[in-house]
Amino acid sequence: MMYICRRVEFCASHRLHSPVLSGTENEVLYGRCNNPNGHGHNYVLEVIVAGEVAPDTGMVMDLKKLKDLLEEQIVDRVDHKNLNVDVDFLKGVIPTTENLVASFWKLVDGKLSPGCRLHEMRLWESDNNMAFYRGEGGKVKVHSEK
Ligand code: NI
Repeated sequence: MMYICRRVEFCASHRLHSPVLSGTENEVLYGRCNNPNGHGHNYVLEVIVAGEVAPDTGMVMDLKKLKDLLEEQIVDRVDHKNLNVDVDFLKGVIPTTENLVASFWKLVDGKLSPGCRLHEMRLWESDNNMAFYRGEGGKVKVHSEK
């Protein structure tokens, strides 16, 4: 098995706020990330694809195709957006790094070249904070709008 990785970047704003917690609880839990008017991040997403090296091409998957897929499915839909309000597939989702990476997984899973599969996605929210996901469990809770 061979693994290839494509890295993409996007900028987006969000506010961490749980509708099932009180205002004070949200402030205590999320701190500055609960700022009512949001804040921004320069996100980095690493997508690792597993597959066998095709003898005819020497490749697992054409990285250009992976790049195009990630731009179409993810980057074009979240870049320079407010993740709380602008993004259809994140409606009702608390946009933590964990929920974002699990949501992104669903957009790409099953759309890779034949013989390839998603192995891991890593979403860096900052230089120090990252969540990674391998498609196991990780059901994203969607809160109904109020
Ligand atoms: Ni944040």
